[in-house]
Amino acid sequence: MKTYNRYATVFSIVLFIVVVVFLQTLSFLEKSNKQVKDGLTFLHEISSNFSLIAPTKPISRQRDDGKKSCIIDDWMRFDPSVATLPRHIFCDELSKSSDILCRWFLTQNNITDHSPCRLPKDGYKVPNIVFYVTFTEYKFLVEHYLCILSAKKIQKPQFIYIVGDVMPTGLYWEKLLKDVPELRIIYRQKPEYISRQFARWPAHLSDIVRVQILLANGGIYMDTDEIFIQSFNPLRNYNITMGLVDVNTGMGNAVIVAERRSPFLQKMYDNYKHFNNSNYYANSLKTAYYLWKNDTSSLHLESENFYRPGWWQDDLLFVKTGFKWRTKYAVHVWSKRDQHRMPKTLDVIDNWNTTLGEIFRYIYYGVSRLRKNRV
Ligand SMILES: *[C@@H]1O[C@H](CO)[C@@H](O)[C@H](O)[C@H]1NC(C)=O
Ligand SMILES: *[C@@H]1O[C@H](CO)[C@@H](O)[C@H](O)[C@H]1NC(C)=O
Ligand SMILES: *[C@@H]1O[C@H](CO)[C@@H](O)[C@H](O)[C@H]1NC(C)=O
Ligand SMILES: *[C@@H]1O[C@H](CO)[C@@H](O)[C@H](O)[C@H]1NC(C)=O
Ligand SMILES: *[C@@H]1O[C@H](CO)[C@@H](O)[C@H](O)[C@H]1NC(C)=O
Ligand SMILES: *[C@@H]1O[C@H](CO)[C@@H](O)[C@H](O)[C@H]1NC(C)=O
Repeated sequence: MKTYNRYATVFSIVLFIVVVVFLQTLSFLEKSNKQVKDGLTFLHEISSNFSLIAPTKPISRQRDDGKKSCIIDDWMRFDPSVATLPRHIFCDELSKSSDILCRWFLTQNNITDHSPCRLPKDGYKVPNIVFYVTFTEYKFLVEHYLCILSAKKIQKPQFIYIVGDVMPTGLYWEKLLKDVPELRIIYRQKPEYISRQFARWPAHLSDIVRVQILLANGGIYMDTDEIFIQSFNPLRNYNITMGLVDVNTGMGNAVIVAERRSPFLQKMYDNYKHFNNSNYYANSLKTAYYLWKNDTSSLHLESENFYRPGWWQDDLLFVKTGFKWRTKYAVHVWSKRDQHRMPKTLDVIDNWNTTLGEIFRYIYYGVSRLRKNRV
C-alpha cells in the first residue's frame, strides 16, 4: 500500500510538471503569435495613418547572376533577415549621394521620387541623421520622449528615424508623434537568428541592425535613453566616435557617430562570426573594446562626454544636483537600471530637484531651473 502511495505521489508530481510545461508552451506560442499579429497590426495601422505600404516581397539572393555585389550580401553571412531589405536603395547609383534611410522610408510610402533624400555636401564626414532601433514591443516612457525630443531640439538633424518591427506604444509615444511630427518610422523585419543562433535578447537584434545601418548610411545612432546636451557637429568630423562605459563594462554602443563604411564597424560586424547568444555583452561591448585596445587610433573616444555620470554614480543624476552636465555631448539616463527612480509623468520634472531634473527641464522648457515659483 505504501509503495502504491509513493507511486501515486510520484505520478501526480510528474503529471503536474507535464501540465505546467504544456501550459507554458501554449502561452509561449500565444505570445509569439501575438508578436506576429502585432507586427501586422503595426503595418496595417502605419499604412492607414502614414499611407505606408508593407515592405516589398523578400528579395531573392542575387549573387551569382552577374549583378554587382551589394553590402547586403555581406550582411547575409550573419543575418538572413537582410534578404527582406529593398536591395536597390542600398546599392544603386543614387545610394552614394543619398540618405538611404530616407529612401527606405519613401519606398515604404510608395514614393518613387527620391530626390528629397540627397545628402547635402556640408563638408562633414558623418551625415546629420539621427536614428533609433527598437525591436519587439516597446512602451515609450517620459525619458524616451525627452531623449528623442532632445535630438530634434539640440542636434537638429536632417531627419530622425525609428527603425523597428512593432510600433512603440504609450501616451508618451503619442505625444512624441505630435511634438516631433517629422519623426519617420521605418519597418524592418526582426532578425530571428544571428550567426545561426536564435537571438534571445532583443538588445542583440538592435545591436546588429544599428551597425548595418551605420555601415550603409553613416549617421548618429542613439539609444532611446541617451539624451543630447550639445550639438554633435564637431564629432561629425571624425570617422567614428564611441565611448567607454568603463573598462570592465566595455565600449558603449548607446551612441555611435560614424561615417559610411567605417572600417572599425566593419570589423565589429565581421566579429559576429564569434557571436554567442548566451553572452549578453560579448559582441556589443567587448568586441568594440578589444578592437579599440588593439589600435587606439582607430576610434575617437568620448567616454566622459557620453556616459557620465556612470551607472555606478547614478545618485549624481537621481538624487544630487550640481553635476556639470552642460559641457557633455550627451548623458545616459540609465532608463532600465533606474526605472524605479524615473519620473512617470512629465509634470514631475518641474520640481524634481536633481541633476536629471535640470537636464529634462533644459530639454523640455529650454531652461533648467526649478519651476515651482512660477505664477
Ligand atoms: C492611427 O490612427 C488612429 C486614429 O487616429 C489611432 O487610434 C491609432 O493609434 C493610430 N495608430 C498609430 C500606429 O499611430
Ligand atoms: C504603390 O505603387 C504601385 C505601383 O508602383 C501602385 O500600383 C499602388 O497603387 C501604389 N500604392 C499606394 C498605396 O500608393
Ligand atoms: C578616416 O578615414 C579616412 C578615409 O575615409 C582615412 O584616410 C583615415 O586614415 C581615417 N582615419 C582614421 C583615424 O582612421
Ligand atoms: C558562450 O558564452 C557562455 C557564457 O559566457 C559560455 O559559457 C559558453 O562557453 C560560450 N560558448 C562558446 C561556444 O564560446
Ligand atoms: C588584436 O591584434 C592581435 C595581433 O595583431 C590579433 O591577433 C587579434 O585578433 C586582434 N584582436 C582583435 C579583437 O582585433
Ligand atoms: C535642491 O537641492 C539642493 C541640494 O542638492 C539644495 O541645496 C537646494 O536647496 C534644493 N533646492 C530646493 C528649491 O529645494
